Amino acid sequence: MKQVVVAWLCVILTLFCSLRACHLYWSSTWELRSAGPSWPFRHNKIAPELEQRQQTHSINHHDQLNILGDQPDGLFYFAQISDLHISKYRPKGHTLHFLQFIQSVLPIIRPEFVVVTGDLTDAKDHKRITSQQYLEEWKTYKMAIDQQPWTNTTWYDMRGNHDCFDLPSWQSRANLYRSYGQSADLVENGQGIYTWQHSPSYGEYQFVAIDACPKRGPSRPFNFFGYLTSSTMDRLASALLKPSNHTFVFSHYPTTTMVFGVSQQGYTFRDLAKHYSVYFCGHLHRLIAGLGDVLQSYDPATKTLELELGDMKDHGMYRIVAVDNDIISFVDARLPLAPSTQLRSTPLIPLSADDKLEWPGKLPMAPVILITNPKESRFVLDNKEPLHRIQSSTHIRFLVFSDESPNQMTFEILIDGKPVIYDDNSNNIDHGDDDPETVNQTTSFITASPRYSGNDKHPLWTLPWNPSAFKDGSHVLSIKVKSASGQTGKSSVIFRTDGRRTKIGGGAGEWIISTHMSTVLQCITLLSIVTMLTLLLIPRFYTDREVSERLLARIHAIDQHAPVGGFRSLQRQILVGALRCLQLPSTQPSVWYGTFSFLLALVTLPWFKAEFIPSGETPSEKFGTFYLYGMVFGTEWVPIADTWMFAAEEVCLDVGVFFALFLLHSVPSELLICGHVKMNRPDDTLQNQRSVIESPWFKGIEVLYWLWRMSEMVALASFYGGIWPTLIQNILVVWLIFVGITLGTSLCSPSNANSNGPNNISAPGKLSWMANGLDGCDGCAKATLKPSIMLDQQYQQEHGTLEPEDCHVVDLDYRFSNSSSSGSSASSTPFNRSPRAKNRKRNRHQ
Ligand SMILES: *[C@@H]1O[C@H](CO)[C@@H](O)[C@H](O)[C@H]1NC(C)=O
Ligand SMILES: *[C@@H]1O[C@H](CO)[C@@H](O)[C@H](O)[C@H]1NC(C)=O
Ligand SMILES: *[C@@H]1O[C@H](CO)[C@@H](O)[C@H](O)[C@H]1NC(C)=O
Ligand SMILES: [Zn+2]
Ligand SMILES: [Zn+2]
Repeated sequence: MKQVVVAWLCVILTLFCSLRACHLYWSSTWELRSAGPSWPFRHNKIAPELEQRQQTHSINHHDQLNILGDQPDGLFYFAQISDLHISKYRPKGHTLHFLQFIQSVLPIIRPEFVVVTGDLTDAKDHKRITSQQYLEEWKTYKMAIDQQPWTNTTWYDMRGNHDCFDLPSWQSRANLYRSYGQSADLVENGQGIYTWQHSPSYGEYQFVAIDACPKRGPSRPFNFFGYLTSSTMDRLASALLKPSNHTFVFSHYPTTTMVFGVSQQGYTFRDLAKHYSVYFCGHLHRLIAGLGDVLQSYDPATKTLELELGDMKDHGMYRIVAVDNDIISFVDARLPLAPSTQLRSTPLIPLSADDKLEWPGKLPMAPVILITNPKESRFVLDNKEPLHRIQSSTHIRFLVFSDESPNQMTFEILIDGKPVIYDDNSNNIDHGDDDPETVNQTTSFITASPRYSGNDKHPLWTLPWNPSAFKDGSHVLSIKVKSASGQTGKSSVIFRTDGRRTKIGGGAGEWIISTHMSTVLQCITLLSIVTMLTLLLIPRFYTDREVSERLLARIHAIDQHAPVGGFRSLQRQILVGALRCLQLPSTQPSVWYGTFSFLLALVTLPWFKAEFIPSGETPSEKFGTFYLYGMVFGTEWVPIADTWMFAAEEVCLDVGVFFALFLLHSVPSELLICGHVKMNRPDDTLQNQRSVIESPWFKGIEVLYWLWRMSEMVALASFYGGIWPTLIQNILVVWLIFVGITLGTSLCSPSNANSNGPNNISAPGKLSWMANGLDGCDGCAKATLKPSIMLDQQYQQEHGTLEPEDCHVVDLDYRFSNSSSSGSSASSTPFNRSPRAKNRKRNRHQ
């Protein structure tokens, strides 16, 4: 009766804490929600006249004006670079790569404009622990752009997370982007969103840049996610809902690392995404181990592409994007490799005393090819591109960027490995036959050779072709160019002339870029917490010993069917897990209450207080409080999703793993295995499992694991202001100490925590049949009697004497000696190791 009251009190407390958790979540996301009508009343339908614009290209099937031929019209291109990480401490790449791009690449490609998508500076200290904004890094960035004598390229840039490490606010003096960024005024006036247009005679192109940095930027590492508040979403909506041939969005953060608010009219990011064509971003640096080779994805719901660009700092990546008669193509190229002498000789901050930039030597660049027709079919945008133009085109079109003159280049152009042949007489008649042997007999077919059709603005090359020869399936066009100096460039595309898509086939990278990481992390965290609370609370309602006994009886019943495998093994695992959960409240009440209160604390209380922004001027600027839902500075919430990332890690590794360990110790594994197995199948895997849990090295691993988790807390303190307040005002540290003490006592005195012998029957639900095996279990009953009888029968056969009173003693002896000795339990054949049995054997041989 009393037990039920306690159980209900715990449930009520949990509900109360859930309410508090909802309230905290509600306050933390205040800025992301619109002030207007909220869900479910919001309307997220975009006005129909704006929707119409997207349909134009699909209807307009026979436009004669835009034939993809050999004229350099309807074409422009721009460049994107990302993640420069100009650093005053890091050699290799970093600054040098950026200077090389400006000096060796930019004058050759001469794009309409360059967009830098964030992480302009590195802002990490020489040990890569703390972070702050360094003036030298920002100066280098600005001077390099301003002082370069080679081009008059227009620059657009935006901040990345590194550019807002340790930043109290936009207005703060520490915000060096404000003085040294190229588009600082645009960002400031647009409050995080700015746009520009390219308006040639043939169309209207709109570009939108997003600064998604947190309003208060914590130092690293809790500054990885970006977010857009509801009011920024309003400005994004008005920027995107303008008619244009194509709209391009630039942001440092891939959408998977963003949290998007809801605009005042109730538009979510997905609603707005229908109105742009491509989302360009950086930030992930191609990840590691080849995971990020293809951080590109297509969303069929919004018909948009998201294209992450590898970093400039290590990989030296840059991207050229061409829009050719409204068909979008891009190429991701790499900088020419700098010789190691140059790497060594370039100073980290190549500025002289009077801020003059010292340029490294210019490097020769291999030709870069960007094929614009036919378009790569992995990246087609349904309905947003006039893909029918590929089918009606007369020429293959590609741009070649090289500093050598066009007449010095030689080409090798192949489709599906064969030279491109071209029907001289009729462009539009479908011959439908690309077999070279039959083709060779028709005199009107000639092998085409490319012609330079460009001008000083576009290095365009064209090659006549018959797209109708390739109307089925996908084909590969590959172009190789060799310049006079022997440098070669290569490019190939998979294309289709029917306007259909080919799978991107990007594997893990494609998946990462198309998920929504912050939602995934929220789900992991909350699901883990809810699961653990459920596993704690339900057993509170089943504290009767009978329930546990029945479970144990079923486990033993399974054991008696030899050998346990497949489905039965799974069934057994589930029963054992349930039994462990049921036993936890009675065998280790302190653990139960400790875990229960810590889980509730995680969702209701602040986790720790820390100096997140050392450059802040007042304590409320410097010190923040970490909640599951975000950080609080003074009274202001920063809904940065990094808290969820940290929480997912802590809840799984600190709470989940130790909870599992507690459960493992809640029932002595000795008890779980039926006497039948112990007697008849001494080599059974069940026995091995038991001996693993009790072995000294498993305990060693527990200790090491605990030390590792504790060291993470120390690392946290070293990031954010040291022992006070980060380590002391920290509920995670309290939890780890609680865990340490609990595990420590169970390791040091296993007789207390690890076993509950027959004398230890205080708690009502506790299992209490250690001495005799499980009551009513045939297997145990036989095992209690039989081994002794067998031994005795043997003994009797050999010696002619019977000692019936020995039967039980042998067995009990073994059980007690084993359950109270700490680590010496690698025994897989208990009955042979019984001291008396051994003695008898010895006696026998005498
Ligand atoms: C850049 O613009 C300036 C002023 O308009 C002009 O004098 C200079 O020649 C231009 N430089 C290049 C490389 O086009
Ligand atoms: C741009 O859009 C306009 C209006 O829809 C259209 O007439 C024009 O052909 C488009 N430009 C190109 C290059 O397709
Ligand atoms: C066409 O025929 C000529 C000789 O008849 C031969 O040399 C050439 O290789 C053939 N070309 C193709 C593409 O088969
Ligand atoms: Zn970066
Ligand atoms: Zn970044």
